[in-house]
Amino acid sequence: MSTPMPSSASSGAPAIDLSFIRAEFPSLQLRIDGQPVSFFDGPGGTQVPKCVIDAVVRYLIFENANTHGAFLTSQKTDEIIEEGRRSMADFLGADPSEIAFGANMTTLNYALSRAIGRDLGPGDEIVITDLDHEANRGPWLDLAELGVVIKSVRVNTEDCTLDMDDFEEKVGPKTRVIACGYASNAVGTVNDVKRVVEMGQEVGAITVIDAVHYALHGSIDVKNLGCDFLLCSAYKFFGPHLGVLYGRKDAFRSLKTYKLAPQEEAPPAKIETGTLNHEGIAGAIAAVDFISRIGERFLDTSRGVPSRRDLVIAGMTAIEEYEKPMAKRLIEGLMQIRGVKVYGPPIDGPRTSTVSFTLEGKTPKEVASDLGRRGIFVWDGDFYATTLVKRLGLAESGGLVRIGLAPYNTPEEVERLLEAIESIAIRG
Ligand SMILES: Cc1ncc(COP(=O)(O)O)c(C=O)c1O
Repeated sequence: MSTPMPSSASSGAPAIDLSFIRAEFPSLQLRIDGQPVSFFDGPGGTQVPKCVIDAVVRYLIFENANTHGAFLTSQKTDEIIEEGRRSMADFLGADPSEIAFGANMTTLNYALSRAIGRDLGPGDEIVITDLDHEANRGPWLDLAELGVVIKSVRVNTEDCTLDMDDFEEKVGPKTRVIACGYASNAVGTVNDVKRVVEMGQEVGAITVIDAVHYALHGSIDVKNLGCDFLLCSAYKFFGPHLGVLYGRKDAFRSLKTYKLAPQEEAPPAKIETGTLNHEGIAGAIAAVDFISRIGERFLDTSRGVPSRRDLVIAGMTAIEEYEKPMAKRLIEGLMQIRGVKVYGPPIDGPRTSTVSFTLEGKTPKEVASDLGRRGIFVWDGDFYATTLVKRLGLAESGGLVRIGLAPYNTPEEVERLLEAIESIAIRG
């Protein structure tokens, strides 16, 4: 990385300059009553750069066909799927043969849990967590119909971290699967997934990591992590709506997937039912290239040509560094507003730049609607982190207001957001 400028935490000024990327996002031109829109809805899906839009359009115009045909567009489609696997392998530190595609994370996780469930029965146990999105709870909870016992790890409600003592206690010799999120999409907690995977390895359990929220906020290295399966979704990191599943070679090979008879036995195709979202894969390739191009600006290339993996890591590191001071300023600013309560880990704790809060006297929906009218887009509710929101005692009052920072957000937008929340708080 090039030497970053010193950051000014109090102003939220980023340590590095990513302002060049704003020009790449056509949606940032959107205005409401002449005011530019600030997109803080990233954890629900980021904005999409033009290169991704172009790749989708290009596929549909020039390369659109089904697979394995004896003609150009079909051959191009086969190539795109293979390049898609290579791209996502570079994104996750995997091998292309370990990358499968699907409709979204939830659908892939259901297919995965059904396949794993074929080997489970009464007496077996699965460990999930109270912090997770329902997409990494529901598919496992449903296996209770096989007589499997599902245990859910407690969350410390003061700082929304996982109770790791409870985790250690719940994992035992009967544990067959541990399903845990990399980071919380509701409050930004980053979990000690390395330790979680070790716990699984100690008892011979299959480990499944939901990296959907984390994927935009830090680089992922599945080999270093050692997990068996990891899932993410391209629409959370600038891509189209497309689910991605990493399966460690041996783990993927022994998976008994539900599939059509003519479908390949070998991974990764064994879990890919029906025709894939080809244009989505074309867009996902462009999304990884987009992140690589960010990395190009910060990587020292004087010692040789970097690999795409190197560029992805540099790009994700730059994004993380860019967002950190803005998140700090956001949390500090929110805590100064009367009636605001911020939920989640401390500023310096392992966390993403996703920040959630409540405002006394207003429902989260009222706050989000007021902000929305001002052209400031934020989510409200439980974001399918239903159990966490219940544990926080917020289920009946509409959950949380969630602000998600993305690399196209600026410190000026954060100031505008804080001013708007303050004015809503003062007005009462
Ligand atoms: C942490 C987390 N896991 C899983 C999902 C579900 O992903 P998908 O929409 O691809 O099914 C989401 C979606 O918001 C999420 O934030």
